[in-house]
Amino acid sequence: MTAATTPHGEYSFDNNDVEAADRHNYLGAMLDDLTIERLSGLGNLAGKRFLEFGAGGGSIARWMVDQAGPTGRVLATDINPRHIRTYPGLEVLEHNLVTEAVPEGPWDVIHGRLVLLHIPQREEILRRLCGSLAPGGVVVLEEWETSFRKLVLAAPDKESAALFDLYHDTLVEQILPAKGNDPTWASRVHSVMIEAGLSDVDTTIVARSWPGGTAGALLIEANIGQLREEFLEAGMTPNQLDEICRLVHDPRLVLRGHFTYSTIGRRRQA
Ligand SMILES: C[S@@+](CC[C@H](N)C(=O)[O-])C[C@H]1O[C@@H](n2cnc3c(N)ncnc32)[C@H](O)[C@@H]1O
Repeated sequence: MTAATTPHGEYSFDNNDVEAADRHNYLGAMLDDLTIERLSGLGNLAGKRFLEFGAGGGSIARWMVDQAGPTGRVLATDINPRHIRTYPGLEVLEHNLVTEAVPEGPWDVIHGRLVLLHIPQREEILRRLCGSLAPGGVVVLEEWETSFRKLVLAAPDKESAALFDLYHDTLVEQILPAKGNDPTWASRVHSVMIEAGLSDVDTTIVARSWPGGTAGALLIEANIGQLREEFLEAGMTPNQLDEICRLVHDPRLVLRGHFTYSTIGRRRQA
């Protein structure tokens, strides 16, 4: 199976880990409504050529197939595509955005969600993606801005709230940046798209509450499962990690979800 490595780091949440299927289900539950609203706002999608990169579980790629219809095309790529279920009309490609050229287009719609924030070469990749757009085609990037603190909206007690602050700071200030993640990328996408020559650049920003027992809170359990060694090396204790994994099931805990920046930019007509 593909090693999720890049020349400058290692993708933080390997699709071979046992938690990966849950991760993709949680992300779909949290974000598919927003993504579908944004893509639907592009107008009639029948016959369009879609590239869904870093497709993860593939829920958006399957939705694209239904929109594109028999005259369109949808290609879903991932460095490790094992969780993309087969679907009539969906093409799937094992593909590394860092080391390989953008799959041959041109593309009318290119979408990537929570992919480039993990990849140090994000700006160069975005420029290459823009170069593979058909005239009038769009790039849609959806990313989490995680540099904001104050993650806890409600908690059973102060000690529990403090644990989540510690978890968040450890993850976004130490562990993920060491693997090439940029917690501020989401809020930079808009200007980077303008610099790349795209027009009509538009950003929508959304954050929801994540009560214990729902996808957003449960994602934290998957994060700790996949990065447990890194959390321990960063100084958190096994008891703290276990307590967080217990609390994410407690509905008295309510977290402020990460701000999702959904940014669309269009290549000018020739
Ligand atoms: C956080 S998941 C997001 C999945 C999906 N886009 C979603 O939002 O539900 C990031 C995905 O990007 C993929 N990925 C990471 N590095 C990649 C690379 N260099 N090229 C292509 N895909 C990559 C991972 O394997 C993973 O499936």
